Amino acid sequence: MSNATPKLLIDEIYKSVKGLLPNEDAADGATVTVEGWMRTNRSNNNIGFIALNDGSCFTNCQVVYEAEKLENYAEISKLLTGCAISVTGKLIHTPEAKQPFEINASEITLLGACDSSYPLQKKRHSLEFLREIPHLRPRTNTFMAVFKVRSIVSQSIHQFFRENGFSYIHTPLITGNDAEGAGETFTVTTREDGDYQNDFFGKHACLTVSGQLHVEPFALALGKVYTFGPTFRAENSNTPYHLNEFWMIEPEMAFCDLNGDMAVMEALVKYIIKDVLESCPDEMKFLNDFVSEKHDLIDKLEHVMNSDFKVITYTEAVDYLKNAPVKFENPVEWGMDFFKEHEVYLCDQVAKGPVFLIDFPKDIKAFYMKLNPDGKTVAACDLLAPGVGELMGGSQREENYDVLVKKMEDMHMDRSTLEWYLDLRKYGGVVHSGFGLGLERILMYITGVANIRDVIPYARTPKSLKF
Ligand code: 4AD
Ligand code: MG
Repeated sequence: MSNATPKLLIDEIYKSVKGLLPNEDAADGATVTVEGWMRTNRSNNNIGFIALNDGSCFTNCQVVYEAEKLENYAEISKLLTGCAISVTGKLIHTPEAKQPFEINASEITLLGACDSSYPLQKKRHSLEFLREIPHLRPRTNTFMAVFKVRSIVSQSIHQFFRENGFSYIHTPLITGNDAEGAGETFTVTTREDGDYQNDFFGKHACLTVSGQLHVEPFALALGKVYTFGPTFRAENSNTPYHLNEFWMIEPEMAFCDLNGDMAVMEALVKYIIKDVLESCPDEMKFLNDFVSEKHDLIDKLEHVMNSDFKVITYTEAVDYLKNAPVKFENPVEWGMDFFKEHEVYLCDQVAKGPVFLIDFPKDIKAFYMKLNPDGKTVAACDLLAPGVGELMGGSQREENYDVLVKKMEDMHMDRSTLEWYLDLRKYGGVVHSGFGLGLERILMYITGVANIRDVIPYARTPKSLKF
């Protein structure tokens, strides 16, 4: 072995705690260096212990330092929670202890000082308190776990689509058509006076509420596509389930009907769960034990992964709700949009898990959804999940030119901004379907976090815009 090998190991592998963890080469007694932030530091006159976290993994690394070996012992023993340090020392395997190893320090250097005003002291902080410090909360166990899982879920989604032959399409965030009907829009303007004809784009422009209309043309060319990006809705719904900026995944498939659409939705949810449970076992265990209310998160996800999702028509759901042995605050009538309480009942009491609702009344759904032969309902599906409500919403799209034009007229829509969309029905239009999955909604479901503001790095909600 050349002399270069140990240096390479120290620099490239041993630097992260994660690199040390499963590494057989990280032999008892090897000299290693790690850099990270102090979670705790306690000491007496002779010996001190630091719990060091470098962000590479969930596990803290225990650093032991002794007055005898460390010339700056006095300085180090005074360092407070939050300091960034570099530690070089001997790796000691500790199979009996909670951590698989510790580092017996020969050198500790202060990299970044931290004083006692640091808000993250060693105690449990409420999620509400942490929401006020979004720049520091990633340093807590809960948020470290949530954001690792968020990263893995995002990658899983790309992986699922790649493995299944989908192309990733980047739809625009600034758009000229606000007619999707998915929600209210934020206007994009460089003017103060609202004179959009003389504005930057020479017309009214807004932030996208959905990439669907822009991705459909690509499905009718590349077959299977998806878009995955930020989505903006100016709706004033201050709930634990709504954000004004959220990330949405919108697949669109040519030659695919509603049943095919639901099959993909179900496969995607199961794929994500499987990948997260395999890739983030420590984070998921933490979320199960400390975040989910009943500590049954992992059991619940494993159960979902191994069961078939139920399918109920909207009309059947109305019957279930009307005959329910509970009194709802909002009475149920055919034709209404369900309230949260109804969704909860359908998930928890009727389906006892995720459930597809299909065939909604046409008047409560978007113009582009395929009209069913009954003339009253559309081939739409919402996937409801316990604790989250609507996880995904999708539909088969109306591919019949005349029917679509008639629907747009009935809804008094401005056809001129959507001629291009109608073209897709004129030029080789085919049966096609798609759906939207809110990234933050599936994250709530997978992490057991009850408020959507806690699964996105910087939440945008009414009257709240922290940095
Ligand atoms: O049901 P939505 O509004 O559907 C669409 O936008 C369609 N264009 C999707 C499609 O067929 N391509 O939104 C889809 C999903 C919802 O099921 C939910 O998961 C999420 O997006 N979502 C939100 N997530 C967080 N905050 C909000 N305000 C959300 N609104 C919708
Ligand atoms: Mg919806």
